Formats: sequence, C-alpha cells, structure tokens
Amino acid sequence: MSRSFDVSLDALAPRYMPLTAGKPSVFDPDVGRGTFFIETFGCQMNDHDSEKVAGVLLARGYRQVETPEAARLVFYNTCSIREKAAQKVFSRLGLWREAQAEGKIIGLLGCVAQQEGEEIFERAPWVSLVCGSASYRKLPELLAELEAGNRRVTGLETDTDETFETEMTRRDNPWRAYLTIIEGCDKACSYCVVPYTRGPERSRASASILKEVRQLAELGYTEVQLLGQTVNSYKDPTSRRLSFAELLVAVAEVPGIRRVRFTTSHPSDFGPEIVQAIDAHPALCDHVHLPVQSGSSRVLRAMQRTYTREKYLEKIALIRGARRPISITTDFIVGFPGETEADFEDTLSLMEAVQYDGAFSFKYSPRPNTPAVLMADAIPEEEKGRRLAVLQEKQRGIQTARNVALVGQTMEVLVEGKSRRESQWAGHTSSNRVLNFVSRAENLLGQYVQVRVASAGPNSLVGEHVG
Ligand code: 5AD
Ligand code: SF4
Repeated sequence: MSRSFDVSLDALAPRYMPLTAGKPSVFDPDVGRGTFFIETFGCQMNDHDSEKVAGVLLARGYRQVETPEAARLVFYNTCSIREKAAQKVFSRLGLWREAQAEGKIIGLLGCVAQQEGEEIFERAPWVSLVCGSASYRKLPELLAELEAGNRRVTGLETDTDETFETEMTRRDNPWRAYLTIIEGCDKACSYCVVPYTRGPERSRASASILKEVRQLAELGYTEVQLLGQTVNSYKDPTSRRLSFAELLVAVAEVPGIRRVRFTTSHPSDFGPEIVQAIDAHPALCDHVHLPVQSGSSRVLRAMQRTYTREKYLEKIALIRGARRPISITTDFIVGFPGETEADFEDTLSLMEAVQYDGAFSFKYSPRPNTPAVLMADAIPEEEKGRRLAVLQEKQRGIQTARNVALVGQTMEVLVEGKSRRESQWAGHTSSNRVLNFVSRAENLLGQYVQVRVASAGPNSLVGEHVG
C-alpha cells in the first residue's frame, strides 16, 4: 500500500528505553568497528525483535548506522513464511561474498536462520552468526564470542521456556510501541513454519508486561500494541494468572495509555470476554485481526486450523454484537492443496458474509518442514494467481463500500505524520484506518484530534480537522 504522507524526521527520532539500570558494557567500542546495521523482513514480531536486538547491541556499546556499507556488523532478521520472503534473504546474502576480507561480520537472525541452521555456513560461508528467535536470550553471549574472534557462532535451540526480555529496546515507531506478550506457537497449522522456527508457546509474566507498559507511558507513548503469533492464547505464567482479557484491561488502565491494540488473535481462543473488555474500556481499540485463512470447513480441517466455518462465524457474531462497532480484518490463503472451485466459492461467500474492513491475502506457498508440503493435489500457480485476484478485487469493493459509509462521521485520530505540503496531516483511527486530513493548526504530531470524514477510498479516508 502506498503511503500518502511523509512522516517528519523529527518524529522518527528514536526513543531509548532502559528496562533496568544499564550494566557497564564489556565491549569497548572502537569507533568504526562497533557499528551495526539491521534490516528486517516479515511480520511485526520480527520488526519488534529487531528493536530488541538493536537494544542489546546499543547496551553493549555498539552504534547503529543507516547503511550496511557503513556497518561492521550487518544483521538480517529474516522471514520464511512464504518462499518469496526467504529468497530475498539469499539475494541479500549474495552481496557479501567478500565480507570477511572487508572486515565485516554478517549475521542471520529470525526464521530463515532457524530453518536453515548451520547449512547457511555451507551456502554462504561468509556468514558468521546464525540465530533463531528462540535463542535471542543468548545474543550477548554470541556477541562476546564474535568479539573474541570466533567466526562461526550459532543459537539454534528451540526447546526453551524462556522469553526474550531486554534491558533496552530501540523503538523505531515514535507513536505506537510494540511489546511482545507471548512468543512461539503451539498450534500446528499444516502450512505454517512458525511452530518450527519460533518454537513452543511461551507467555511473559504479567508483571513484567505491565512494568514495560508503565515505562512506555512515562516515556510519552500513548499507544501500545501487544504482540504474539497467537496473542490471545496468552497464559500468565505467574501466580497472578491473568487471563488475556484481564491483561488487556490492566494494560488499558495504565495511566497515560490511550490506545491498546493486539495482534494476532487465533479464532479458537477468541471468547466473549475479549469483546466485553473492549466494550468496557474505550482505550481498547475498535479493531480485531482474526485470520480465517479459508471459508471452507473441509480446507480448514486440512489446514489443521481447529475450527470450522460455522465456529468462525460464531466468533464474528460475538464481535458484531459489541456495543460499539469493531473493525474486523483477516488473512486468507488461496490455493491450498486440494482447494476446489467450490471451496474457493466458500471463501468468497464467507468474505461477503463477514464484510471485512481489511484483508491480507496470499497464494499458498509450500514450506519446508511443514505437513502440507507433502500433500497431494497442488494447485497450479496460475490458478492460485487467478483466485487471489478474484479475492482481492472482491475485498476492494467491500472495503470501499465500508469506508464510504463512514463519510460524514467524526473520528478521533492519533496524528502520526505531516505532509510536506502545508496543512496536510495523517494518522490512524482507533479502528486502524489511515485518515489523511487538512488542518491549519500547528504541532499536531502525537496529538489526538477529531476529524470529520469527507471522502473515502479502499485503503484510506480523507477528512478535515474539527477539533
Ligand atoms: N503460504 C501462504 N501464506 C501463508 N501464511 C502462513 N503460512 C503461509 C504459507 N505457507 C499466511 C497466513 C498467516 C499469515 C501471517 O501468513 O495467512 O495468517
Ligand atoms: Fe502459524 Fe497457525 Fe501458529 Fe499462526 S496459529 S503462527 S498460522 S501455526
């Protein structure tokens, strides 16, 4: 999606967040040697992991730079959810054949690192560090080994019950602070690499989450987004035993916090108490991302999604029954092995029935180490492409109609960007829509303002500041 505004550079100034009193660094930074660059692929979990990895490096005395050329340590935090994402990583690695001769250290983090493991050293012998997300706790140790001159270090264990908590997090988004509440995944969707690459589900202690939220509020953040592959499967490991809905309420009640988002919810663990919490607390945003993947119960069974079309529609009914309108967005996969034309029609009819406010849709991509990779009846790429286009066209129509229906309404916007053109601003509504608007006011960045919607397209709204 193209962005119709530029975020001002000032607004992007990083915020450093010490979580505990900083320990002295064992690494004496030698200017030009202690520099790092990190590029991130994939989901918000990866984006946020990179923010934490950057925090670990900064706490050790490294300095972050803007280009890989200027860095001594070059990290790629990788995604392997679909083949295309994984391929991108290998094309990046191809750039650094001469890295060691140039005195650079190349490190691979994330899902491709976990998936490929030590084989990376065969494929790209110039890589020095390979570390999956379940081993990020070991990063300081691995960095110490690199600093000591070791050129092949790995963190590839996934059988952990630990979460990755950092002393410092270098947040890239000045308005919306991400924080992980649950890592890994205990579901076993047959197409998905995540249970393999991120390991088993581990929830973070509620007290630690709430402490971080309070610190974020003190730093001036008003919006937080709780992250997890299955965020609503959260189980407080401490004796407090907060449920996910109780945690949402506790986060919403932290003084200074005005918006709480959470992603991604799994339909099987989505219950009425989440909707009740949203109804009771205005700070809980009017938005639920609830990936359905397919509208056919037969395909859902083959995907091992643990719910049927009917069960999913019951969850939608819960959300639609809320006292205030809640936006619903989703993910779809088309062309799963064996998906017939009738199955695909079921997906289209579910889309029509739910009326999503947004959807990410993907062609099924066979992934190594997943059960679906062995399934018969692959759908030809061309047919997957056709189904994807049909689905996206239909969703575009639904989104346009839903957005146009908002014309005339006044909504609260958190102002996040200012265009170079005078008096043009942009931000998000509670329902997570982008709203571009005009205002003669000054210094609106970071403010909550009322905007009346004047027109709408499929991906954004346009309005004017009314107060
Ligand atoms: N092929 C295509 N899409 C996939 N997703 C996950 N695994 C695959 C795959 N193998 C999609 C799902 C998930 C989103 C994050 O990525 O829709 O919800
Ligand atoms: Fe993958 Fe399914 Fe876990 Fe989501 S719930 S991360 S799709 S296995």
